[in-house]
Amino acid sequence: MNQKSPYSIPFNRPTIVGKELYYISQTIHNGYSAGDGEFTKRCNRLLEQVLNVPKVLLTTSCTHALEMTALLLDIQPGDEVIVPDFTFVSTINAFVLRGAKPVFADIRPDTLNLDETQLSRLITPRTRAILPVHYAGVGCEMDAICEIAAKHNIAIVEDNAHGLFGKYKGKYLGTFGAFATQSFHETKNFTCGEGGALLINDPQYIERAEIIREKGTNRSRFFRGQVDKYTWVDVGSSYLPSDILAAFLYAQLEARDEIQAKRRRIWEYYHHHLGAWAEENGVRLPFVPSHCEQPYHMFYLLLPSLEYRQELIAHLKSYGILSVFHYLPLHLSDMGQRFGGKKGDCPVTEDVSDRLLRLPFYNDLNEGDQARVVEAIQAFKPATLQFTPPVLSVNQRGD
Ligand SMILES: Cc1ncc(COP(=O)(O)O)c(C=O)c1O
Repeated sequence: MNQKSPYSIPFNRPTIVGKELYYISQTIHNGYSAGDGEFTKRCNRLLEQVLNVPKVLLTTSCTHALEMTALLLDIQPGDEVIVPDFTFVSTINAFVLRGAKPVFADIRPDTLNLDETQLSRLITPRTRAILPVHYAGVGCEMDAICEIAAKHNIAIVEDNAHGLFGKYKGKYLGTFGAFATQSFHETKNFTCGEGGALLINDPQYIERAEIIREKGTNRSRFFRGQVDKYTWVDVGSSYLPSDILAAFLYAQLEARDEIQAKRRRIWEYYHHHLGAWAEENGVRLPFVPSHCEQPYHMFYLLLPSLEYRQELIAHLKSYGILSVFHYLPLHLSDMGQRFGGKKGDCPVTEDVSDRLLRLPFYNDLNEGDQARVVEAIQAFKPATLQFTPPVLSVNQRGD
């Protein structure tokens, strides 16, 4: 435990599954640690094969993969992009960077995903992309979203930061849109500290994606022997991670069954042991529709009120347990308001954002510590007197 931390059970803790450090040492022994080395290729191939995606490119983050999609779609100032209001800022910021106007859609109260029934109202002749976010790795209603996007010739970019190896109606998340983006940030099921991937399902974008990722050069073609020198051919940036990070990640992806089995156990433990308490206390546990297979990314509680949540965070803190809230409504952020967002625009998001609490969740969270979390929750007695919510710092949000 970090000496300064008041938490003996953190919200997240990076874990080693097996070969991470060995693979890192191999990159050094092989004499190649920059981007697109052996381990980057292995990660790309593994994801392409398992997910059956035409092209996967590791990136430095999910944020950067999203930025690449905005460049690939040639998003121009004034173009509109539909985004769920309940998501991380990067989902939309990547498009705002190119001058796009965000159009905030409210979420479904059950899965907390983009409410697909809102789309026809929000689409205009300027709409260029729809960005479904599979919250907690539970699939959005992709049948309806794909149908309306196809009807209006609008691109779909799935923000699948939470959902690697999750499925919707038997098909992997990340395989529905022209693009999907993954995150390997330290809070995700599979990690290399900071990292991401761009999944390209529409092959027409593959060549340009390689160029954009390689500083606007045709370096990938050069390495394949398709050109005899490489040069500046398009806009781009540096979106490829070091092979050292890819080596760490590859060990985790190889151990995906073991990791997913651990996370499933953790999720089911919370679900089983908190079920009765939740029912007695008006608390809702995560909902997973029967046609979705979740990858056990997180476990959250939907509590009766903001005050209840803030009090429970403080109560768990007194037991040495860090629990965190999640996204604030995008339309009410400083940036969201600059785009015209105002209170009441997305009532479900506004409500859920106040009441959602995420419990500690990491691969090596053992049953003893989980039992402590459950017991602490069961011992919670919300105050009936006036209550002042604690001020939370950004690093307590666990994004
Ligand atoms: C839905 C979603 N999209 C994108 C991101 C950004 O991911 P990254 O940190 O890999 O850029 C996050 C971060 O947690 C996220 O939750």
